[in-house]
Amino acid sequence: MDAQEKKRLAAQAALEFIVPGTRLGVGTGSTVNCLIEALPDIRDRIDCVVSSSRASTALLEERGFDVITLNESGDLDVYVDGADEASKRLHLIKGGGGALTREKVLAAASRRFVCIVDDSKLVGMLGNFPLPIEVLPMAQEYVSRQLLKLRGQPVWREGFVTDNGNHILDVQGLQISNPVEFEDRLNRIPGIVTVGIFARRPADILLIASDSGVREMRV
Ligand code: 5RP
Repeated sequence: MDAQEKKRLAAQAALEFIVPGTRLGVGTGSTVNCLIEALPDIRDRIDCVVSSSRASTALLEERGFDVITLNESGDLDVYVDGADEASKRLHLIKGGGGALTREKVLAAASRRFVCIVDDSKLVGMLGNFPLPIEVLPMAQEYVSRQLLKLRGQPVWREGFVTDNGNHILDVQGLQISNPVEFEDRLNRIPGIVTVGIFARRPADILLIASDSGVREMRV
């Protein structure tokens, strides 16, 4: 089975968590795009939709969904999103698509966070995937120097501006043995808007698609 087929499988498996009356948060990325393709089939179960990026909003609107803001919806029932890496404790690295800030807000505002991945994303320790960090443009060099002190190698995602008007540093060379502690530590650096470690608020349910089907993990 190819990677795209696995993404479709994981996305299909997430549909069962969207029950009638769901206030739904939608993430960003190629796996979530498979979810968005499937959503029209269960339109009647969705009370309202909030999106984590302009890209996902555009795809949802193409399918006839009226996307509202988190300010309008209040807290959400279910948030479905992908990840760049996931551990068995359901800690994640996210932000490969650069939407990490709004993704983190929606995950925090949701009762249940369902993460959909193919089996290539499951890792023993987070950090092989370069850690995305959203930074204020004026603080980019300062933040880079702080990350070097923590033995990371920050690389500016050149030419990329987030939906919030900020820059992304992709930090290579990290072995994140304690994701909660490291997320807290990075959050204390002024100029960092959002760290792509999702450990303080991990996923609640991880759906992993592989050749043998979809496995569900919970902590
Ligand atoms: C976007 C994200 C995505 O969830 C992550 O990059 C995974 O994307 P894909 O499903 O395309 O592999 O965090 O900011």
